[in-house]
Amino acid sequence: MANDRRPDDMVRITTNELADAFIEEQITALREQIGSKKVLLALSGGVDSSVVAAMLIRAVGQQLVCVHVNHGLLRKGEPEQVIEVFRNQMKANLVYVDATDRFLDKLAGVTDPEQKRKIIGGEFIEVFAEEARKLEGIEFLAQGTIWPDILESEKGIKAHHNAGGLPEDMKFELVEPVKILFKDEVRIVGERLGLPAGMVYRQPFPGPGLGVRCPGAITRDRLEAVRESDAILREEFAKNGLEGKVWQYFTVVPDFRSTGIKNGERSFEWCVIIRAVNTKDAMTATVEEIPFSLMQTLVNRITSEVKGVNRVLYDFTPKPTGTIEYE
Ligand code: XMP
Repeated sequence: MANDRRPDDMVRITTNELADAFIEEQITALREQIGSKKVLLALSGGVDSSVVAAMLIRAVGQQLVCVHVNHGLLRKGEPEQVIEVFRNQMKANLVYVDATDRFLDKLAGVTDPEQKRKIIGGEFIEVFAEEARKLEGIEFLAQGTIWPDILESEKGIKAHHNAGGLPEDMKFELVEPVKILFKDEVRIVGERLGLPAGMVYRQPFPGPGLGVRCPGAITRDRLEAVRESDAILREEFAKNGLEGKVWQYFTVVPDFRSTGIKNGERSFEWCVIIRAVNTKDAMTATVEEIPFSLMQTLVNRITSEVKGVNRVLYDFTPKPTGTIEYE
């Protein structure tokens, strides 16, 4: 790779011109590294892997094979957006795997949060490896590693192993075209590569997805309630100018029901908890002050549109003492 480390005096990419120059440089380097060989990429639809995909499509076109694994814990509309942007618009070679049943069957009855994470991570690698084995002649594995990942792994804060866990016999040379960039730079580069703003500027979303927002054992009905209420929350935040302003916002559906009244009859249903927080580094967080009228709209929409829900709560807890996610 032309740039293996971020030079100390590297100018921060803050303009379109600087982003374009970076893209040109990387494309030349990628073509040199890859030649006429094939590259594999696990495309989650998150910012980093999406930017890597867009860059590689430009550099080597059909030599890139993207694998999008839908683990059934993605937000509403996400797999569809990945297919629309990468397969339909960018004409990428995209393998879409709907592994929802596989993940949910493995997770059935599992209540321990760390066990849930382990199952989701492990199953992901298995599905990805299975798909990789079906493909012939792959020599490279692309990854959305970014500069903070490298700094954190060097400081021992978190092990940076995006590819970590792939079976021993699967040895690929790594391709990491955004490795020397900070997140804000990755976003500008993504925009210049033609990715939609909604994809490039989206809020952080955890790897285990909606699974950590369905505390305790995941059931399909509660998962659906999380997905639908999250979609309403995102829609209303966008409508009310809060998208891009609030750092992270989502809904949680805990594992208990409460009594209520719906259509004049007793109901015994789930509740939805809304969480909206601001932070700089996710180590501490404060709670966003949502206008009361917006809160009322959210309560009305969620209790009438989301199946199995009769109550909406707002979480006022900062981090600490709460963490941002519930598990
Ligand atoms: P917490 O809950 O620890 O969250 O206050 C801090 C930030 O990290 C995200 N998060 C995760 N991201 N895998 C991820 O990729 C995980 O298991 C995970 N757990 C939390 C969380 O969404 C927040 O942005």
